[in-house]
Amino acid sequence: IDIKTLRGATGGVITIDPGYKNTGSCESGITFLDGEKGILRYRGYAIEELAEKADFLEVAYLLIFGELPNKEQLDKFHADIKEQAIVDEEVKKILDGFPKAAHPMGVLSSLTSALTSFNPSSVDVDSEEAMYNAIVKILGKFPVLVAWTMRKKKGLPLDYGDDSLGYVENIMKMMFKRPNQEYVQNNIIVNAIDKLLILHADHEQNCSTSTVRIVGSSHAGLFASISAGISALWGPLHGGANQAVLEMLEAIKEDGGDTKKYMAKAKDKSDPFRLMGFGHRVYKNFDPRAKIIKVAADEVLGDLGVEDPILDIAKGLEKEALEDQYFVDRKLYPNVDFYSGIIYRAMGIPVEMFTVMFALGRLPGWIAQWREMRLRKEPIGRPRQVYIGENYRPFKEISNR
Ligand code: ACO
Repeated sequence: IDIKTLRGATGGVITIDPGYKNTGSCESGITFLDGEKGILRYRGYAIEELAEKADFLEVAYLLIFGELPNKEQLDKFHADIKEQAIVDEEVKKILDGFPKAAHPMGVLSSLTSALTSFNPSSVDVDSEEAMYNAIVKILGKFPVLVAWTMRKKKGLPLDYGDDSLGYVENIMKMMFKRPNQEYVQNNIIVNAIDKLLILHADHEQNCSTSTVRIVGSSHAGLFASISAGISALWGPLHGGANQAVLEMLEAIKEDGGDTKKYMAKAKDKSDPFRLMGFGHRVYKNFDPRAKIIKVAADEVLGDLGVEDPILDIAKGLEKEALEDQYFVDRKLYPNVDFYSGIIYRAMGIPVEMFTVMFALGRLPGWIAQWREMRLRKEPIGRPRQVYIGENYRPFKEISNR
């Protein structure tokens, strides 16, 4: 079908699909998702295999460039990223201007947007080379901003990474290293974070990714587009859910730990409360990422020897929801965020940083989707509407209103 002829032939007919529940916004070769069957693949590779066999940087390369890198390609990619793992010192002044209580997602979105001012050449991406340069810049600089955002909150000095380490190892060191203390890497934590980042790396046209594509479609730069994606991810119905899960579990604990009471609240239609970490717009079956992460959560908590009443509440809710007719009928299974928050907490990552960890994982997906959109020369995103407001009315003078 020639879409232009079709548009001309609609005679002004417009489809209305609030929340775009059934509207495809693009053609994409990046992520395959079958929500009914619970299948997720990046560039054709099953998420289960990638989580087991690949590391996060390999997956980032795969998502962005379409193929798994060989050793030489991966080494070059990593070296180019390391070269960019610095941020203009002036950015520290912007960070300083935020109140300590500022939410890290707001800070991160602002700092990411500010990167454009310090790297104006990143906006003009008319060649593949210019595009590549913008990509390695953001992959190098973003982890520094993430680490600084957390360190500022904790009152720790801001510095740079360690070139000798792997991508994820370095991020962990930048986040957790303390002044005047030797940093000892915990491999259990590094491996679990690597896996979590892989699981979050892309998820086709979700809210933040669609935001990145639509902002990028106006040819705003990559960093501005990513900044907009971070803001979209912040919301509790999207990436903010992992923070909301932990806050909900804490609230249940404070209230005496009665999970049945909260199950009833979630089912009561007169109560806006929802069980955070349950349900998904696309998965109407168990989220395959949640399956992997559930196993990882048990391993990590076992290995770290964590005993936490919050976990017992989480397990209780999970069991009750899986047996409850309301949740079964609506196919509301625990999603990836239900478990990720629990793992982050066990690792000592502050609750407000949970969504930032999600953003760190999603970064390669956002980049891949932005690159695909630009290479395919997609038109500017511009949805239509059906107007339901007033008909023409003559202007009313202020004295008559
Ligand atoms: N608790 C209780 N009831 C729920 C929940 C929940 N968590 N989620 C959905 N429902 C109910 C709705 O009330 C609705 O019931 P009804 O048919 O009787 O009216 C039905 O299930 C369908 O819900 P919708 O809101 O239409 O589903 P939608 O696909 O629009 O929403 C969403 C998906 C936003 C994820 C929703 O399930 C939710 O709010 N979950 C909690 C927040 C959360 O965990 N978000 C993370 C998503 S995953 C991610 O971003 C990585």
